Amino acid sequence: MRLQTLELRDFRNYRSLSLRLSPQVTIFVGQNAQGKTNILESVLLLALAKSHRAGRDAEMIRWGAESAWVSGKVERSRRTYSLDLNIFERGKKVRVNGVEKRKISDFIGHLNVVLFAPEDLLLVKGGPQVRRRFLDIELGQMSPQYLHNLSRYQKVLQQRNNILKDSERVDSGLLGTLAVWDEQLVEYGTKIIRKRLEFVDKLQQFSAEIHKRITSGGEELTLEYKCSLLQQGDSPDALADRFRAQLAVRQKDDFRRGSTSVGPHRDDIEVRIDGKDVQTYGSQGQQRTAALSIKLAEIELIRHEVGEYPVLLLDDVLSELDEMRQLHLLDGMGERVQTLITTTMTYGLEQLMREKAVVYRVRNGTVSES
Ligand SMILES: Nc1ncnc2c1ncn2[C@@H]1O[C@H](COP(=O)(O)OP(=O)(O)O)[C@@H](O)[C@H]1O
Ligand SMILES: [Mg+2]
Repeated sequence: MRLQTLELRDFRNYRSLSLRLSPQVTIFVGQNAQGKTNILESVLLLALAKSHRAGRDAEMIRWGAESAWVSGKVERSRRTYSLDLNIFERGKKVRVNGVEKRKISDFIGHLNVVLFAPEDLLLVKGGPQVRRRFLDIELGQMSPQYLHNLSRYQKVLQQRNNILKDSERVDSGLLGTLAVWDEQLVEYGTKIIRKRLEFVDKLQQFSAEIHKRITSGGEELTLEYKCSLLQQGDSPDALADRFRAQLAVRQKDDFRRGSTSVGPHRDDIEVRIDGKDVQTYGSQGQQRTAALSIKLAEIELIRHEVGEYPVLLLDDVLSELDEMRQLHLLDGMGERVQTLITTTMTYGLEQLMREKAVVYRVRNGTVSES
């Protein structure tokens, strides 16, 4: 799929912007704090209806303006969609082909993106929440159902935790309410875990292959979804029972902690190279390469699931990676994947720029063709 146009109004430091994007590579060059990442953020917003870095949607409204607007035309193999999104101080409106969607999940998924930003190099090295966020974002853009279950789960979890914090007045009524939340937690939680297991399994196949290629056949990368509720050899069918039982067993502890100690909100992905945990034993370089392999695998996985390549967003990462990896990254995407790159310097990109890229200069919320 390809994003053909991008229009912004009162989005971050852009008063008004209208861009045509290359079907292959578009490069945004500029100094720091000029608005390069803001452009990629707006593209991500069209895909996920959510920013990867704004705590609140309203942060994205240009200072002094009342609302922000982002719009884009997506070309897919069978048809094109126009997507647009208004952000207000309170709430947002999303439209597909001009028709407002009341459910955000009806908007998400028309455009798929894979974002690679400097912080993604921490995918392996960082804490479990980094990998859970990764799972949720990637699964979420492919499966509205997953998003729905996730948001239900999070609401129920919050309610359950509120009760656990209220341990002053534990009585039978309270325990009864807890039982109701437990049942819902099990229902949504097992759906989330099943989907993640399936996802990590597929991701593992693609990333092992890519990793082998990047390391010139040297290293064997394996990914495993770590779920405290699953034990070796378990069938996934045992999941709901085990979840229910664990909630009961840990109830006392959970009251003491004031939070829920078991469930998909505590899970992780274990990343191994040649059988050894990369987080513990890997070098910095191995951790970064593994992160890169996983990210590249995501591109292939989306194509596998959705039938088309996503749009690749590379935010300031080229200088982060050494030459060998740069080569593989740019090589891998070739002609097939539309790519938007931001960078502060064009060094190393000369050939790409000459041959097939559209290059824009970004300065203080304005974009000009160079
Ligand atoms: N809501 C907003 N309104 C106006 N300007 C904003 C807003 N949010 C961020 N900015 C400005 O955007 C710039 C940062 O843009 P960014 O895309 O992150 O820069 P970079 O080019 O380094 O990627 C900063 O100058 C910041 O002040
Ligand atoms: Mg930036």
